[in-house]
Amino acid sequence: MKILFAASEAYPLVKTGGLGDVIYSLPRALQQQGAEVRVILPAYRLVLEQMDSLRIAGWMQVQGAGRLHDARILEAGSRHLGVPLLLVDVPSLFDRPGNPYLHPEGYNWHDNAERFTVFSRAVARLASDTRLLEWRPEVVHCHDWQAGLVPAFLSLEEQAPASLFTIHNLSYAGIFSHQEFEQLALPRSWWSPDALEFFGNFSMLKGGIVFSQHITTVSPTYAEEIQTPAFGYGFDGVLRAMRHKLSGILNGIDLETWNPATDPFLPSHYSARHRYLAGKRENKAALLQQLGVEVSDQVLEEPLLGFIGRLVEQKGIDLLIEALPALFTHPDVRLVLLGSGESRFETALRELAALYPGRLLLNLGYSEELSHRIEAASDLFLMPSRFEPCGLNQLYSLRYGTPPVVHAVGGLVDTVVDATPENLEAGRATGFHFHEPTSTALLGALEHALRLYRNPPVWHQLIRTAMAQDFGWARSARRYLELYRQLGAGTVDD
Ligand code: ADP
Ligand code: GLC
Repeated sequence: MKILFAASEAYPLVKTGGLGDVIYSLPRALQQQGAEVRVILPAYRLVLEQMDSLRIAGWMQVQGAGRLHDARILEAGSRHLGVPLLLVDVPSLFDRPGNPYLHPEGYNWHDNAERFTVFSRAVARLASDTRLLEWRPEVVHCHDWQAGLVPAFLSLEEQAPASLFTIHNLSYAGIFSHQEFEQLALPRSWWSPDALEFFGNFSMLKGGIVFSQHITTVSPTYAEEIQTPAFGYGFDGVLRAMRHKLSGILNGIDLETWNPATDPFLPSHYSARHRYLAGKRENKAALLQQLGVEVSDQVLEEPLLGFIGRLVEQKGIDLLIEALPALFTHPDVRLVLLGSGESRFETALRELAALYPGRLLLNLGYSEELSHRIEAASDLFLMPSRFEPCGLNQLYSLRYGTPPVVHAVGGLVDTVVDATPENLEAGRATGFHFHEPTSTALLGALEHALRLYRNPPVWHQLIRTAMAQDFGWARSARRYLELYRQLGAGTVDD
């Protein structure tokens, strides 16, 4: 079975969020189950800088905004992702510093419409025409708006493979103007509510929704939620119309990268069977020390809360900010926070960190290493997201024995079992839910969690149950394979 993954991020080469984690870990899991997977990305400068050797597979001319581009297709082998990597190299569009979508000053690149149209055109051509790669995928699995036009362009090709479109986050829809639509020479018939047109603009994400043979989202609950106005971001109507080809498959996690028994970022290793209390305590001591807190036996008894994520409204960071003064009326609670994002949230957090020194341990920025250390060191992990297509941090938290406190939406409700009396009694509970996106509701769940934290037998059971959950990719990868098969893959040569 031959599958081509088209996306804009892949850990460890380029990652701004969970999409990067998935494009690293899902292809490997599929490969372990016998599929032949390749990944294709834009050749961002950051990615090219990490390549030691590259083979030029060929050249193609691709229509951009009022001009043609010479695109070089590069083959990078399997060293980086564990599966073969292909790159669409158009230096005038992708050879730029830093973040894949943003100018160093923080605004969107002015030509993002052209950048991802050219990428998608190149992918569709490559997937349909065997002359360049001598390898033809049976399914092109496209991810998020940056690859949303791939299914649309495939619909114009004669020998096109089937396409599957995965929505990782509906709130990023790749929306651009009519003028850009015209400059990009997209087929006129696509300017229609039945195709790309979206409230007077056009949306690349909608291309994926309308033209793919099947759509998935990254959790079953999110697949339902996005069909409602509250979560649909204007797409709920078209998604309801497409529900016959829409399903949810829960994300998994990479069990090697996120393993507290071997994690190279951790000062102390532990597992569900071995030293989980001592191991967590040692990691807590090391992290607190690293962050300038004087460590004592008493400090180590006091609850440490963790938060990691993009500082944007989706993640409910405003709810957390609002809840902090009340939370810190508990004289022993500390919160370690790692994130970067909108400056209004960064400013508010800086002010709070000045008000609560030694209590709000603020780390603005991006650090893979610190994120692992926080997962291991914290006693509770906070995910007050307004919506969450899947969420990976709660899964990392469960594996690291750090019960998550989550807003009961999307992938969070699908993966965390609330510590109700019945669930505790049955030994099923793994974390805490709250049901309204308000700071009061968040505080309510935190109060409950802190009460249980002070009850060691119950707390230790919660940690053990959390750590016993299996969120590896095996099960979900099987579901993707089934779907690829339904789309016609694997019938010819395997
Ligand atoms: P999203 O993709 O919406 O940002 P996920 O929970 O799916 O949310 O994935 C976020 C990923 O990005 C996780 O791997 C998380 O650890 C990582 N991450 C987010 N912010 C940071 C940060 N400031 N430093 C390090 N890792 C981060
Ligand atoms: C998105 C979502 C997140 C999900 C990730 C990977 O960025 O916001 O919930 O886990 O994609 O699918």
